[in-house]
Amino acid sequence: MTLNKLKGKDFINLEDFNSSEILELIDLGIKLKKKTKGNKNLDILKGKNLVMYFAKPSLRTRLSFEIGAKKLGADTSVIKQDEIILGKRESIEDTARVISKYADGITIRTFEHSDVELFAEYASIPVVNALTDLSHPCQIMADLMTIKEKFGSFKGLKVTYVGDGNNVTNSLLKGASLVGMDVCAACPNGYEPDSNQIKIAEHISGETKNKIEILTDPYEAVSGANVIYGDVWTSMGQEAEYETRKEIFKGYQINEKLTANAAKDHIVLHCLPAHKGEEITAETFEKNAEHIFNQAENRMYAQMAILASIMG
Ligand code: CP
Ligand code: NVA
Repeated sequence: MTLNKLKGKDFINLEDFNSSEILELIDLGIKLKKKTKGNKNLDILKGKNLVMYFAKPSLRTRLSFEIGAKKLGADTSVIKQDEIILGKRESIEDTARVISKYADGITIRTFEHSDVELFAEYASIPVVNALTDLSHPCQIMADLMTIKEKFGSFKGLKVTYVGDGNNVTNSLLKGASLVGMDVCAACPNGYEPDSNQIKIAEHISGETKNKIEILTDPYEAVSGANVIYGDVWTSMGQEAEYETRKEIFKGYQINEKLTANAAKDHIVLHCLPAHKGEEITAETFEKNAEHIFNQAENRMYAQMAILASIMG
């Protein structure tokens, strides 16, 4: 119930893994779900300790990692930004070396992606990216697992993201490419995904032969989509831009009119938290609630697959 070849690795960037490793991790998540759903636990991480650092709020990431690690037999310690202020009270390099003396793995949710990479350079334990301003790879592993459960494979599928080209979008472009699924993002001018992240996704697609499109028209983008994907218009840390963003993104709402242009068998996913009436209507959200909450549930199993493999 682990991928031994990933032992000791960090899980910071999706592109640090090849297609078969990502596909195997997704399948391992599905297996772990079957094996541990309900009150069934395993002892793959028995005697190990996972530290979880949060510089931003979290419901899903915090609980899915904490409960998932416990289901694998590990103990967990959560530290919040105001307790250590990563990089302020002492250097990231020293913090990484200290935590490595106590724990067997760490998840980090913070602002600067380079802080996580610096931490990993100095840590001697696996480091997991639990969301940065640049990317959210664990989210995308759960999303891919949800798509695999629903459609059986990624072959011939298209996922369309509608809204702000943010951390989730950056990871989605790369994750979809790694599994060979066509991916499209519809974003207003100036709010496209990170250009370097697009280049990385394009590089991956050279191997997997999937199509990547960045468009401005959400109607054109959802045409033929099997999965429509939404996220908030204002990410954590951008709160001061809330009113401006509401205006800029108002044509990018996921609603019944937009989804009518997608494939007949489409589903709508949302990484949550959702702001109903903004990026998605309550009607479209509720019609897809089964998939969206399965997606949230799968955070735990997808991450258990990662933890079991890198820490096991
Ligand atoms: N989707 C997600 O990462 O949720 P949290 O911010 O609540 O962890
Ligand atoms: N883009 C969002 C994702 C939340 C899970 C944010 O960074 O706030």
